Amino acid sequence: MPRDTLTILGIESSCDETAASVVRKSRSGHGEILSNVVHSQIEEHADFGGVVPEIAARAHVEVMDSIIAKSFEDAGVDLNQIDGVAATAGPGLIGGLIVGMVTAKTLAAMSRKPFLAVNHLEGHVLTVGMTDQLLPPYLVLLVSGGHTQLLIAHDIGHYETLGTTIDDAVGEAFDKTAKLLGFPYPGGPLIEECAAQGDPSRFELPRPMLGRSEPDFSFSGLKTALRRIAENHAPLHEGDIADLCASFQCAVTDCLKDRVAAAMAIYKQKLGAQIANNLVVAGGVAANEHIRSSLTQLAADNGFRLYVPPSELCTDNAAMIAWTGALKLDRGITNPLDFVA
Ligand code: KG4
Ligand code: ZN
Repeated sequence: MPRDTLTILGIESSCDETAASVVRKSRSGHGEILSNVVHSQIEEHADFGGVVPEIAARAHVEVMDSIIAKSFEDAGVDLNQIDGVAATAGPGLIGGLIVGMVTAKTLAAMSRKPFLAVNHLEGHVLTVGMTDQLLPPYLVLLVSGGHTQLLIAHDIGHYETLGTTIDDAVGEAFDKTAKLLGFPYPGGPLIEECAAQGDPSRFELPRPMLGRSEPDFSFSGLKTALRRIAENHAPLHEGDIADLCASFQCAVTDCLKDRVAAAMAIYKQKLGAQIANNLVVAGGVAANEHIRSSLTQLAADNGFRLYVPPSELCTDNAAMIAWTGALKLDRGITNPLDFVA
């Protein structure tokens, strides 16, 4: 007998954010975020230009308890009032995943509530169910620091990969380019800010994989080409850096548009005319306004409706983990306490 509401505590600790959130799902499918606490470790990693796994794991341990306590306090609920505890089980940095999973399993065991192991990518992919009440099937462009994928979400738990990157993830390309230009980690948002002042047509950069029918990606050639231009123009002035950022962002956007268009053709062919054409863009890079507006236009031109979660739910958070846990529990899917990260 399905319950009227499911209230789930979610925990996310796969990379450099320690996050906890309480989400309530109604039987009608409506999702309500009761709390969404995200603690970024950016400062701990800043001196190293990227995430250091050992530092990340330790930092998760240090703040996990207080982040969860705050998520309960903000939500106005306690452990007895929740119906399940969800945690990211992967993919991610193993030390951080273990911290989140052990915490979630302990809370689940103490309160005799079900434990829900959630795939981080599935969390990104299903967020639109919580924000827009959109459920599969839909086409997804998942663009984060660790992943670049085009996939068809056929159903909850049933995904078909159409294409992926053969080298760098798109967020990784943003971060590496940013580092080359002297920006701190994570550089994606700083490149976007700087690109707004630059001329995207000043430097000619390649558009790898353009025109191919398989919707795969490649970004390493783009990054190398940019490095060569930067070296040839050294020392770089403020205007040069802005023009490089704008040229880079424009090249990445062109690649994404072309690859998504190829995936749209496959999606239409596979799912046929009776299905609504919906495109979901998820993951940290979906926070980029230039990429969002370009994909909005692309979707309109191809008869697709575009869904992008609000920026704070595109980057890593625990609300997406709690929500995915709720969808699983709703279907009677739970995980044993010996489930490994
Ligand atoms: O999804 P996410 O928070 O973490 C992963 O699962 O990787 O994505 C983080 C990535 C970083 O590479 C970051 O530079 C990128 O998303 N990012 C952006 C923007 N905001 C975050 N890239 C481009 N433009 C942005 N505005
Ligand atoms: Zn992520």
